[in-house]
Amino acid sequence: MGAGLPAKKPGQTPQVLNLPALSQSPYNRPLFPEGTPLVADKRYSCIGLYNPKSPENVGSVMRAAGCYGVASVFYTGKRYERAADFVTDTKRVHYDIPLIGIDDLKKILPLNCVPVAVELVEGARPLPEYTHPDRALYIFGPEDGSLDKEIRDWCEDVVYIPTSGCMNLAATVNVVLYDRMAKGLNTRSGPKFR
Ligand SMILES: C[S@@+](CC[C@H](N)C(=O)[O-])C[C@H]1O[C@@H](n2cnc3c(N)ncnc32)[C@H](O)[C@@H]1O
Repeated sequence: MGAGLPAKKPGQTPQVLNLPALSQSPYNRPLFPEGTPLVADKRYSCIGLYNPKSPENVGSVMRAAGCYGVASVFYTGKRYERAADFVTDTKRVHYDIPLIGIDDLKKILPLNCVPVAVELVEGARPLPEYTHPDRALYIFGPEDGSLDKEIRDWCEDVVYIPTSGCMNLAATVNVVLYDRMAKGLNTRSGPKFR
Protein backbone atom coordinates (compact mmCIF):
# COMPACT_ATOMS: atom_id res chain seq x y z
CA MET A 1 0.00 0.00 0.00
CA GLY A 2 1.49 3.38 -1.03
CA ALA A 3 2.14 5.96 1.71
CA GLY A 4 -0.68 8.42 2.17
CA LEU A 5 -3.39 6.28 0.56
CA PRO A 6 -6.28 5.07 2.76
CA ALA A 7 -6.69 1.29 3.03
CA LYS A 8 -8.76 -0.17 0.20
CA LYS A 9 -11.93 -2.02 1.28
CA PRO A 10 -12.97 -5.18 -0.65
CA GLY A 11 -15.03 -4.28 -3.73
CA GLN A 12 -13.82 -0.64 -3.76
CA THR A 13 -12.26 0.84 -6.88
CA PRO A 14 -8.56 1.73 -6.39
CA GLN A 15 -7.65 5.25 -5.26
CA VAL A 16 -6.02 7.51 -7.79
CA LEU A 17 -3.48 10.11 -6.75
CA ASN A 18 -4.63 13.54 -7.83
CA LEU A 19 -1.52 15.04 -9.38
CA PRO A 20 -1.49 18.44 -11.05
CA ALA A 21 -1.54 18.40 -14.85
CA LEU A 22 1.95 18.63 -16.30
CA SER A 23 2.77 21.15 -18.94
CA GLN A 24 5.31 19.84 -21.43
CA SER A 25 8.50 21.57 -22.48
CA PRO A 26 9.65 21.15 -26.08
CA TYR A 27 12.00 18.40 -24.99
CA ASN A 28 9.58 16.35 -22.93
CA ARG A 29 10.60 17.84 -19.59
CA PRO A 30 7.73 18.47 -17.21
CA LEU A 31 7.59 21.88 -15.65
CA PHE A 32 6.52 21.30 -12.05
CA PRO A 33 4.96 24.28 -10.29
CA GLU A 34 6.94 25.47 -7.26
CA GLY A 35 6.02 23.45 -4.15
CA THR A 36 4.74 20.34 -5.96
CA PRO A 37 5.39 17.44 -3.57
CA LEU A 38 7.80 14.84 -4.85
CA VAL A 39 6.02 11.54 -5.31
CA ALA A 40 8.67 10.03 -7.56
CA ASP A 41 12.07 9.97 -5.96
CA LYS A 42 14.16 7.26 -7.56
CA ARG A 43 17.62 7.98 -8.88
CA TYR A 44 18.62 6.42 -12.17
CA SER A 45 21.00 6.82 -15.05
CA CYS A 46 20.66 6.12 -18.76
CA ILE A 47 23.26 6.11 -21.49
CA GLY A 48 23.01 7.64 -24.95
CA LEU A 49 25.55 6.55 -27.57
CA TYR A 50 25.95 8.86 -30.51
CA ASN A 51 26.53 6.77 -33.65
CA PRO A 52 28.67 4.05 -32.01
CA LYS A 53 31.20 2.47 -34.32
CA SER A 54 31.06 -1.24 -33.60
CA PRO A 55 29.34 -4.09 -31.74
CA GLU A 56 32.49 -4.42 -29.63
CA ASN A 57 32.08 -0.81 -28.43
CA VAL A 58 28.41 -1.31 -27.65
CA GLY A 59 29.05 -4.67 -25.97
CA SER A 60 31.62 -3.14 -23.64
CA VAL A 61 29.24 -0.32 -22.81
CA MET A 62 26.49 -2.84 -22.04
CA ARG A 63 28.87 -4.66 -19.73
CA ALA A 64 29.53 -1.40 -17.85
CA ALA A 65 25.79 -0.65 -17.81
CA GLY A 66 25.15 -3.99 -16.14
CA CYS A 67 27.89 -3.47 -13.54
CA TYR A 68 26.61 -0.05 -12.47
CA GLY A 69 22.85 -0.62 -12.71
CA VAL A 70 22.07 1.63 -15.68
CA ALA A 71 18.35 1.70 -16.52
CA SER A 72 18.60 1.68 -20.32
CA VAL A 73 20.96 2.37 -23.20
CA PHE A 74 20.01 4.28 -26.35
CA TYR A 75 22.00 4.62 -29.54
CA THR A 76 21.79 6.40 -32.85
CA GLY A 77 23.22 5.44 -36.23
CA LYS A 78 23.37 2.26 -38.22
CA ARG A 79 26.99 1.27 -37.98
CA TYR A 80 26.28 -1.91 -36.15
CA GLU A 81 23.29 -4.18 -36.01
CA ARG A 82 21.28 -4.56 -32.84
CA ALA A 83 21.16 -8.30 -33.48
CA ALA A 84 24.94 -8.55 -33.65
CA ASP A 85 26.48 -10.81 -31.05
CA PHE A 86 28.28 -8.41 -28.73
CA VAL A 87 31.39 -10.42 -28.00
CA THR A 88 32.52 -7.95 -25.36
CA ASP A 89 29.22 -8.24 -23.46
CA THR A 90 30.16 -11.59 -21.96
CA LYS A 91 27.51 -11.24 -19.25
CA ARG A 92 24.78 -10.93 -21.88
CA VAL A 93 23.60 -7.69 -20.30
CA HIS A 94 21.88 -6.72 -23.54
CA TYR A 95 19.19 -9.25 -22.69
CA ASP A 96 18.56 -7.62 -19.29
CA ILE A 97 18.92 -3.90 -19.95
CA PRO A 98 16.92 -2.32 -22.77
CA LEU A 99 19.15 -1.35 -25.71
CA ILE A 100 17.13 0.90 -27.97
CA GLY A 101 17.96 2.40 -31.37
CA ILE A 102 16.57 5.85 -32.18
CA ASP A 103 17.24 8.41 -34.89
CA ASP A 104 17.64 11.30 -32.43
CA LEU A 105 18.65 11.06 -28.76
CA LYS A 106 16.62 14.19 -28.01
CA LYS A 107 13.46 12.18 -28.60
CA ILE A 108 14.02 9.71 -25.79
CA LEU A 109 14.85 11.99 -22.88
CA PRO A 110 12.88 10.48 -19.98
CA LEU A 111 10.69 12.78 -17.87
CA ASN A 112 12.64 14.87 -15.39
CA CYS A 113 15.96 13.48 -16.62
CA VAL A 114 18.95 15.74 -17.27
CA PRO A 115 20.98 15.25 -20.46
CA VAL A 116 24.73 15.38 -19.79
CA ALA A 117 27.25 15.40 -22.64
CA VAL A 118 30.53 13.69 -21.88
CA GLU A 119 33.25 15.11 -24.10
CA LEU A 120 36.82 16.31 -23.88
CA VAL A 121 36.19 19.89 -25.03
CA GLU A 122 36.98 23.38 -23.89
CA GLY A 123 34.39 24.77 -21.51
CA ALA A 124 33.37 21.36 -20.15
CA ARG A 125 33.22 20.84 -16.38
CA PRO A 126 35.71 18.48 -14.75
CA LEU A 127 34.02 15.26 -13.60
CA PRO A 128 35.75 15.09 -10.18
CA GLU A 129 34.04 18.37 -9.18
CA TYR A 130 30.70 17.54 -10.75
CA THR A 131 27.49 16.91 -8.79
CA HIS A 132 25.48 14.40 -10.82
CA PRO A 133 21.78 14.93 -11.55
CA ASP A 134 19.37 12.64 -9.69
CA ARG A 135 18.31 11.31 -13.07
CA ALA A 136 20.82 11.56 -15.83
CA LEU A 137 21.12 10.67 -19.48
CA TYR A 138 24.86 10.57 -20.16
CA ILE A 139 25.65 11.02 -23.83
CA PHE A 140 28.94 9.81 -25.35
CA GLY A 141 30.51 10.29 -28.77
CA PRO A 142 31.74 7.54 -31.10
CA GLU A 143 35.14 5.83 -30.93
CA ASP A 144 36.23 7.58 -34.13
CA GLY A 145 34.70 11.01 -33.61
CA SER A 146 33.23 13.29 -30.99
CA LEU A 147 29.93 14.80 -29.92
CA ASP A 148 29.02 17.67 -32.19
CA LYS A 149 28.22 21.14 -30.89
CA GLU A 150 24.52 20.82 -31.57
CA ILE A 151 24.09 17.93 -29.12
CA ARG A 152 26.45 19.51 -26.58
CA ASP A 153 24.43 22.73 -26.68
CA TRP A 154 21.22 20.78 -26.13
CA CYS A 155 22.63 19.04 -23.06
CA GLU A 156 22.23 20.81 -19.74
CA ASP A 157 25.85 20.06 -18.73
CA VAL A 158 29.03 19.08 -20.53
CA VAL A 159 31.59 17.20 -18.44
CA TYR A 160 35.06 15.88 -19.13
CA ILE A 161 37.54 13.63 -17.41
CA PRO A 162 40.89 15.37 -17.02
CA THR A 163 43.02 12.78 -18.83
CA SER A 164 45.96 13.46 -21.10
CA GLY A 165 44.41 12.45 -24.38
CA CYS A 166 41.06 10.79 -24.75
CA MET A 167 40.09 7.37 -23.45
CA ASN A 168 38.23 4.79 -25.46
CA LEU A 169 34.44 4.88 -25.32
CA ALA A 170 33.88 2.03 -22.87
CA ALA A 171 36.61 3.27 -20.53
CA THR A 172 34.92 6.67 -20.44
CA VAL A 173 31.53 5.14 -19.70
CA ASN A 174 33.03 3.11 -16.85
CA VAL A 175 34.72 6.18 -15.34
CA VAL A 176 31.55 8.30 -15.45
CA LEU A 177 29.42 5.53 -13.92
CA TYR A 178 32.04 4.81 -11.28
CA ASP A 179 32.17 8.51 -10.37
CA ARG A 180 28.39 8.56 -10.00
CA MET A 181 28.48 5.46 -7.80
CA ALA A 182 31.38 6.74 -5.67
CA LYS A 183 29.51 9.99 -4.94
CA GLY A 184 26.65 7.90 -3.57
CA LEU A 185 23.60 9.86 -2.43
CA ASN A 186 25.29 13.14 -3.28
CA THR A 187 23.26 13.79 -6.39
CA ARG A 188 21.56 17.17 -6.72
CA SER A 189 18.63 16.50 -4.37
CA GLY A 190 20.75 14.66 -1.82
CA PRO A 191 19.13 12.01 0.40
CA LYS A 192 15.62 13.16 -0.61
CA PHE A 193 16.09 10.75 -3.50
CA ARG A 194 16.62 7.07 -2.91
C1 LIG B 1 37.64 7.55 -28.24
S1 LIG B 1 36.76 8.99 -27.84
C2 LIG B 1 36.65 9.82 -29.41
C3 LIG B 1 37.93 10.05 -30.16
C4 LIG B 1 38.47 11.43 -30.06
N1 LIG B 1 37.52 12.45 -30.37
C5 LIG B 1 39.72 11.60 -30.92
O1 LIG B 1 40.14 12.72 -31.05
O2 LIG B 1 40.29 10.63 -31.40
C6 LIG B 1 35.10 8.44 -27.72
C7 LIG B 1 34.22 9.22 -26.78
O3 LIG B 1 34.63 8.97 -25.46
C8 LIG B 1 34.41 10.12 -24.66
N2 LIG B 1 35.69 10.52 -24.06
C9 LIG B 1 36.89 9.94 -24.21
N3 LIG B 1 37.80 10.50 -23.39
C10 LIG B 1 37.16 11.46 -22.70
C11 LIG B 1 37.55 12.39 -21.65
N4 LIG B 1 38.78 12.42 -21.19
N5 LIG B 1 36.60 13.23 -21.17
C12 LIG B 1 35.34 13.18 -21.62
N6 LIG B 1 34.91 12.33 -22.58
C13 LIG B 1 35.81 11.48 -23.11
C14 LIG B 1 33.75 11.16 -25.53
O4 LIG B 1 32.35 11.03 -25.42
C15 LIG B 1 34.23 10.74 -26.91
O5 LIG B 1 33.40 11.23 -27.94
